[in-house]
Amino acid sequence: MTVAVAPNPLFGPNSFKLGIFSENADGGLALTTVPERWRAEWDDIVHISRLADRAGIEFILPIARWKGFGGETDARGRSFETLTHGAALAALTERIAIFSTVHAPLVHPVFAAKALATIDHVSHGRAGLNIVCGWNQPEFEMFGTAQADDRYAQGYEWYQVLVRILAGEAFDFSGKYFNLKGVIGAPSSVQQPRPVTMSAAFSPPGRDFAAKTSDFLFTTFAEIDSGAAHIADIRERGRKVGRDLGVFTTTHVVCRPTQGEAEAYYQRYAVDLADHVAVDRHMALKKEFAHSHDPHVFDQYRQRFAGGVGTYPLVGTPRHIVDEMTKMQAIGFAGTTLSFVNFRDELPYFIDQVLPLMVEAGLRQPVP
Ligand SMILES: Cc1cc2nc3c(=O)[nH]c(=O)nc-3n(C[C@H](O)[C@H](O)[C@H](O)COP(=O)(O)O)c2cc1C
Repeated sequence: MTVAVAPNPLFGPNSFKLGIFSENADGGLALTTVPERWRAEWDDIVHISRLADRAGIEFILPIARWKGFGGETDARGRSFETLTHGAALAALTERIAIFSTVHAPLVHPVFAAKALATIDHVSHGRAGLNIVCGWNQPEFEMFGTAQADDRYAQGYEWYQVLVRILAGEAFDFSGKYFNLKGVIGAPSSVQQPRPVTMSAAFSPPGRDFAAKTSDFLFTTFAEIDSGAAHIADIRERGRKVGRDLGVFTTTHVVCRPTQGEAEAYYQRYAVDLADHVAVDRHMALKKEFAHSHDPHVFDQYRQRFAGGVGTYPLVGTPRHIVDEMTKMQAIGFAGTTLSFVNFRDELPYFIDQVLPLMVEAGLRQPVP
């Protein structure tokens, strides 16, 4: 039987695309003790995924975490595995793209290819893959595996194995990290030659890896204007290998009727009631943020870390948030991820108030 495939929503018409990030993990993207924080209960995840699906939001991007960050809440200690999460949501949604975030050094590519092909069939071509090469040492220790000296070279071999399976090839593979005989896998993916791919590396080797493997690169930035340099860098790396990459960013959102209310809530959850031990631990693990900024920027990053692990804050009225997104789109971002303290409480307001203003601003088309 041939499966009817619509183009993956990542290639759809909106000039500024949106995705829900880290709804599969407790705390979402925040490191906070506020009582209403996200608990990642399955029924809530299904509820908000369907809301996003009906609202025309382009994708769901789960986080791949194997261990929490300690502190009062052990943020991310509870999270759903992303391939099985993807298969389930594929069956429960109709239009939205569903990424799986896979650690290349921890999940064998023969297994990952079959799991991803499964999701692509269940969803009729809406699967996506976020390729992660890993940074969180305690997670590697838990698997009894060391991080490779060149994790992006390892990741590239992993990717080559995966895509050849998804394209329906039968082959042997001989590399530095993988030596595989008689590799084969059916069914092939519905999207050909493979499902849509993204990665989110920041380092030069990581970005070169993305240039070779990913349709989209997701990047953070300190201020919107500095995002332009990241986009130019990523595009140039893509051009060198003959590929045209789309660039997304990633944000945490507090949207309220007034600017004062939004800022007061941001102060409450990301400063006053931040999970300070978890913030310290996360920042220490990502050393560059802990040691490379002057105290003013450090303080700002601290709030951003508690708010959404260093992503950009979209805090304010619907109008303010759309103005910020308009600036992002103007310098070349193709879209952003969104995370909320409590997705179930806050996503409906965002859908009702922000999406129509995005249509007015020419960033999105009305949902049919
Ligand atoms: C949007 C986004 C999603 C990410 N998802 C994960 C994830 O789920 N699991 C993980 O271990 N790392 C994740 N990362 C981390 C990146 O894969 C990457 O390791 C990090 O940005 C550092 O870049 P580098 O590896 O080039 O040093 C994510 C980063 C971003 C910006």
